Amino acid sequence: MDVETLERLQLGDVLEQLKWVSPGGRWSPTQDPDSPCLPRHKVAVVLPYRDRLHHLVILLSWLHPILRRQQLEYTVYVAEQAGNATFNKGSIMNAGFLEAWQRSDATCFVFHDVDLLPEDDRNMYSCPPQPRHLSVGVDTLGYKLPYFLLVGGVLSVRGDQFLQLNGYSNMYWGWGGEDDDMGYRIKQSGLSITRPPYHLAKYTMIRHLKRRPLTWKVRGKLLRTSGRRYRLDGLNTLHYSLLALHRHPLFTHLLLDVGTPPENLVKLDAH
Ligand code: BGC
Ligand code: MN
Repeated sequence: MDVETLERLQLGDVLEQLKWVSPGGRWSPTQDPDSPCLPRHKVAVVLPYRDRLHHLVILLSWLHPILRRQQLEYTVYVAEQAGNATFNKGSIMNAGFLEAWQRSDATCFVFHDVDLLPEDDRNMYSCPPQPRHLSVGVDTLGYKLPYFLLVGGVLSVRGDQFLQLNGYSNMYWGWGGEDDDMGYRIKQSGLSITRPPYHLAKYTMIRHLKRRPLTWKVRGKLLRTSGRRYRLDGLNTLHYSLLALHRHPLFTHLLLDVGTPPENLVKLDAH
C-alpha cells in the first residue's frame, strides 16, 4: 500500500484487517494458528503521542502486520501527554517505558515516532547487545543520516540499558533535542550506537507540520551540558502520574501527566 492509500484509511477498516491483534495491541507467535512458535524477542513499542490520531491509525495499520511477520512477542503502547502544556517527548517516553517495564516481561523497547513507516520488513524491531538506531534513512531527509549521533525517529534499546542511561532527559520542552541528548548519553555511558544495513533501514515520513521548536539558545545550552547531566536528569527525576490506562483493540493507551515547563524556561524560550 502506498502512503496516499493509507491516508484514506478509516479506523473501521483497520480494525477489520487487524482482528488477529489481541486487546491492548499485543501479539505473540505462540498464537500463530498455522505454526505456533516461541518468541525470541519480547518487545514493547512505545509511541510518544499527542493530537496525531490520523498518523496513529496509519502507523498501526502498517506496523502490526510487520511485527507479526517478524515473529516478535510485542505490545504497542501509546504514551499520550495529557493537557495542553508544551510537549515533552523525553518525559513521555520515560513514563511510557516505566509503565511498560512494570507491566510486562518485555526486555526490548522500541521508541517510535508516530509519523514514521518502516519500508522493509527485514529491519528487525529487536534489541541487539547495543542500542540500535533503526530509522537511518528517512525520505524527507533524502534518505541520508544527517549526523552520526542522531538517534531520533526509531530507536531500540534493551530495558536494562535504558535504566543504565537513566532514560531520556526531562528538560526538553517543545520540538527537538531530546534525541540528540540521548545520543550523548549513549556515548557518555560507554554504550555505542549501532545501525542496521542502510538499505534495510529506510522510512517514509507521513507529511505534517512540525511543532514549534525549542529555541536554539535553550537547546544548545542543554546539549552542551548533557554529558555531565545525564545521571541527574532522567528516569530518576521524572515526576508523572498515570491518569488512565485503556486496552484498546490495537494499543495500550497510557494517558500521562508530566507537568508543565518551568517558568524560567518559558521566559527564555519566549525571546
Ligand atoms: C533536532 C533533532 C531532530 C533532528 C532531525 C535536530 O536539529 O535537534 O531533535 O531529530 O534535527 O530532524
Ligand atoms: Mn516527524
